[in-house]
Amino acid sequence: MDRIALTCPDDWHLHLRDGDVLGDLVPFTAERFARAIIMPNLNPPVTTVHQARAYRERILAAVPPGRAFEPLMTLYLTDITTPETIREAVESGIIYGVKLYPAGATTNSEAGVTDLARCHEALAAMEELGLPLQIHGEVTHGNVDIFDRETRFIEGRLVPLMGRYPRLRLVFEHITTAQAAEFVHEAPASVAATITAHHLLFNRNHLLAGGLRPHYYCLPVLKREIDRESLLEAATSGSPKFFLGTDSAPHARGDKESACGCAGCFTAPAAIELYAEAFDSVGRIDMLEGFASHFGADFYGLPRNTDSIGLERVDWNMPKHYRFGQRDIVPLRAGDRIRWRLTERERA
Ligand code: DOR
Ligand code: ZN
Repeated sequence: MDRIALTCPDDWHLHLRDGDVLGDLVPFTAERFARAIIMPNLNPPVTTVHQARAYRERILAAVPPGRAFEPLMTLYLTDITTPETIREAVESGIIYGVKLYPAGATTNSEAGVTDLARCHEALAAMEELGLPLQIHGEVTHGNVDIFDRETRFIEGRLVPLMGRYPRLRLVFEHITTAQAAEFVHEAPASVAATITAHHLLFNRNHLLAGGLRPHYYCLPVLKREIDRESLLEAATSGSPKFFLGTDSAPHARGDKESACGCAGCFTAPAAIELYAEAFDSVGRIDMLEGFASHFGADFYGLPRNTDSIGLERVDWNMPKHYRFGQRDIVPLRAGDRIRWRLTERERA
């Protein structure tokens, strides 16, 4: 199969930032995806419906004319998020989840949750109203090895959370380990996971062996080859619990190529193409449509898209950099060959 058509996919985990870079970033995603869940870790974070509504308008203003793209907004959970805010979010019709960043876990997580017990009322309201919690699943104690932070989160945080709120809908975001894939596989249907293209294609050797490659640095950090293989098995299994979330996380070149570089891989310019490469690498390109275009919509209770995209197995070269406001940005696989190409997006 050298050409395939897919129901137009959605990106269930995306960072678009704000300000003058929106116009440089939104077109990449709007070209490939019909909808995207927009992460709220701006500075300051998106904690109110009012802020989310204004941010949504700024994103829509950056959508190229003639493209249909819907940003699905989220709120940023803090120790002081109220049940009233949760109710207002549900009633707004523009908010599709609330993101849990454990304080200190990653980019702009300083305002995140210090102790889940402090969020009891907000979480109880989310459980009652069916609003999903999107989880950055890593513990943050300085004494926990960075490669163990996700697995420690499962037993230490996620299992107790599920015990206390059994009906709460959970998305374990950007899972990176065999243990997380197995946990989600065995969890009730209220628990799902997103998987990035970079965690399907790369392991920690790509980041660290033979030189430090900052553009491969993200959080949760790339793990072992055995983990990558487990994630690829889960993504291509046809299980509706696993779906596409790029976690494309743009940072200017100078903020990545630095003595203390930011976490985040910028994959939006070839997002669906990179997933196609990953699925094709194990002969499972036929499983891409469910993962990319059906299962996420089903989990979030949204209709599947009716338009389509085309992909063909043709090499092209990823540019070495793109514009990022007044600065520039290096995409993942800059200067390398990409093996699948987007051909068209058609309206239904
Ligand atoms: O690599 C990451 N980058 N992981 C995150 O959790 C946040 C993201 C960002 O916003 O840069
Ligand atoms: Zn993210």
